[in-house]
Amino acid sequence: MAETILEIDNLSLRYKTKKGDVKALNRVSFQLEKGLALGLVGESGCGKTTLANAILRLLPDNAEITGGHIYFDKEDLLLLAEQELREYRWKKISMIFQAAMNALAPVYRVGDQIIEAIQNHAPEFTYSAAKERVQRLFELVGLDCSRIDHYPHQYSGGMKQRAIIAMALACDPDLIIADEPTTALDVIVQDRILKRLNRVREELGMTMIYISHDIAVIAELSKVMGVMYAGELVEFGSTLSLFKQAIHPYTAGLMNSFPSIKGAKNQLSIIPGEPPNLLNPPAGCKFHPRCQYVTAQCRQVRPPLYRSPTEQQHFALCWHPLGANGKENDHE
Ligand SMILES: Nc1ncnc2c1ncn2[C@@H]1O[C@H](COP(=O)(O)OP(=O)(O)OP(=O)(O)O)[C@@H](O)[C@H]1O
Ligand SMILES: [Mg+2]
Repeated sequence: MAETILEIDNLSLRYKTKKGDVKALNRVSFQLEKGLALGLVGESGCGKTTLANAILRLLPDNAEITGGHIYFDKEDLLLLAEQELREYRWKKISMIFQAAMNALAPVYRVGDQIIEAIQNHAPEFTYSAAKERVQRLFELVGLDCSRIDHYPHQYSGGMKQRAIIAMALACDPDLIIADEPTTALDVIVQDRILKRLNRVREELGMTMIYISHDIAVIAELSKVMGVMYAGELVEFGSTLSLFKQAIHPYTAGLMNSFPSIKGAKNQLSIIPGEPPNLLNPPAGCKFHPRCQYVTAQCRQVRPPLYRSPTEQQHFALCWHPLGANGKENDHE
């Protein structure tokens, strides 16, 4: 049996605002096997960053987790005191933040910033051991070691991104969470860096959660994928199984709005409508106002979990799951 490294169980979270509560996560559940890369995809505002930040509880003051559990190596992270959780950050779980490229402090040499991060979290490292580690990390991410003593302004955008990735790898974490780490870069540089990140991750046996708007990037990097919509994880399973047969009409719509990974030129089909405002999300299935299969049930009752008949780990929240021919199936 493969080992589960992370289990999110029925996680709900809201942001308190003057206008009311933003229901940013609603009963999100999934399990991630050790050593795999999970890609999380979904339109802007669907809760991807919120989910990532909730894992390490790096949340703003107005965020409130209203239910659920986050098990990492069987430990419920939500029960840990802040001090205990600090032991997990960087060493066990590291994070590459959205727009992280600007996270390097401009007045310090890049190498020194990484050495400091290593020594902060792993005091057993002497300066020279930490410096050696930085050299190794630079090689891993494809940065020339002569760059260690340079300042951030002497780096291109792609180099800064590689340095940020080196920093995330610095304490040899078990899980890396990368929140759209490269969207500010041009696509060729982006592609090269992501492939390198994935190769290094595989070599080091790390698990990764990779967040992106771009389903093509997710398809290439991730063995398993999750699709989020309006604060919910609406579909989850192996990338192969999702591409073979998406269950949720939203996933199918997302896939149709990108050229096929098999190379065939699809007609771009955009899902009509907009995601809901999470201050006041619709009842029942959150996707129902945009769904072509909508029925009265969808408008009123949250859909049950439907499992793919061919892959038990592949599930979706839908009253009218799509079947083998793109037609509707009944529930088991
Ligand atoms: N601090 C906050 N206070 C209030 N609402 C927030 C806060 N942070 C995020 N939100 C809201 O929570 C929802 C989820 O936001 P989140 O940033 O997690 O989405 P996302 O999927 O990461 O989007 P993007 O793709 O644009 O990065 C959105 O409706 C957003 O407006
Ligand atoms: Mg985000």
